[in-house]
Amino acid sequence: MIIKTSKTQKIILALDFDSESETLDFVEKLEPKLCRLKIGKQLFVREGPGIVTSLINRGFDVFLDLKFHDIPNTVVKACKAAADMGCWMINIHACGGRKMMETVADSFAKLKNPPLLISVTVLTSFDDQEMKRIGLYSTIDKQAGLLAKLSYDSGLDGVVCSALEIKNIRESVGSKFIYVTPGIRFMGDATHDQSRVVTPEKAILLGSDYIVIGRSITNDDDPLKKLKQINLNL
Ligand code: C5P
Repeated sequence: MIIKTSKTQKIILALDFDSESETLDFVEKLEPKLCRLKIGKQLFVREGPGIVTSLINRGFDVFLDLKFHDIPNTVVKACKAAADMGCWMINIHACGGRKMMETVADSFAKLKNPPLLISVTVLTSFDDQEMKRIGLYSTIDKQAGLLAKLSYDSGLDGVVCSALEIKNIRESVGSKFIYVTPGIRFMGDATHDQSRVVTPEKAILLGSDYIVIGRSITNDDDPLKKLKQINLNL
């Protein structure tokens, strides 16, 4: 398992925009030394791999957040394509199972400079009722813990989770497992559709290696100033 934490930036900025032009206008205001960038389905489906390479060429580390979930052969090929693009981090769904995760981890182990490979356990949009609807009668905490351990045993580098879940997951995995935590808000910020939120400082105290922040920065009048302020406090 290769852990790449050579750079110090802990902030992963979620670029949840609709177009390349809007994204690049925003990115012009940023500096690679202050944050890494996350591209999700919203932007990728509209703009494709070009936007990823464009940001990498500007010197940014890119987390491609496409949450792959399919049969092992399909997922490993998609992940290799993401590795070929030069992504810094990618993710897959842990509920794709051990065989799917191991196939990708094994193929990445053969690459010279693979992206960090992390998994999504239980989506933060899930509640207990939704779990039961898909036949899962465990609690969200237990299910997230089980899938995080499965990801660790399958050779993944880490997991996307709430900072509030780290303590529980840590009890069953090794110390080098990476925690990438969304659901970050500043005191007084709107929570939007996130339900379990913490401040950037609290997330780091709880053990986050990287914090994912979207609207609290992208909606700010001065995103660069805000980024600098957060970095100073971490
Ligand atoms: O704007 P906000 O800070 O809520 O953005 C959070 C980002 O993290 C979004 O891009 C969202 O898709 C992503 N994310 C999340 N919860 C997960 C996985 C990813 O909020 N479990």
